[in-house]
Amino acid sequence: MYGIVNKAIQDMITSGFGAETWDAVKKSSGVDEDFFISNEPYDDVVTYKLAGAASEVLDMPVGIVLNSFGRYWIMKTGKEKYGSLMEAGGSNLKEFLVNLPSFHNRIMLAFPNLNPPEFKVSEIENNGIRVHYFSHRNGLQEFVKGLLLGLGELYNVPVEVVHTQSKEAGYDHDIFKVIW
Ligand code: HEM
Repeated sequence: MYGIVNKAIQDMITSGFGAETWDAVKKSSGVDEDFFISNEPYDDVVTYKLAGAASEVLDMPVGIVLNSFGRYWIMKTGKEKYGSLMEAGGSNLKEFLVNLPSFHNRIMLAFPNLNPPEFKVSEIENNGIRVHYFSHRNGLQEFVKGLLLGLGELYNVPVEVVHTQSKEAGYDHDIFKVIW
């Protein structure tokens, strides 16, 4: 994944727990990089190692690390660094989610070698929607859940996210029901 992802993990840990904790996470991950360059692609293994090491050092399940990172990604990376892109995604939560399937197309202008997930939506209702998540990557379901919760925060809408279908149960993709 592009360095911006690893850099955001670093920023989340540094701002939440301090630079020493970040140093401990990096050391424990075995990742041998002094810093991450946002627009340079890194092997996915780097991101997984950082998340795993954060889980160990902070003594919390990796799912909680990924979920927190999803929320951080929306509120910090998305809102603060790519505010206009996020705003172009929709003027309310429902609109943003309906437009989510094409969201990363615009990101590809900045990150040409992006290997993004694919999203589809169904059952679009006044108070909910089903978000279908397809990826060749595994184990990022809690990250997606955190992203969806983060979008609720962004639009000031309390949301509930229910994981209704899991790739881990043998399906070809995950489904999240988002209710607001
Ligand atoms: C301005 C906001 C955003 C930016 C700049 C961005 C950019 C990126 C980048 C650089 C990656 C790594 C992929 C790679 O390097 O090949 C990524 C992955 C991902 N993005 Fe986004 N993204 C944004 C918003 C979103 C939103 C709103 C969602 C969904 C709600 C989302 C869902 C994901 C997921 C789930 C992945 C993990 C990769 C996978 O599952 O295969 N992103 N994104």
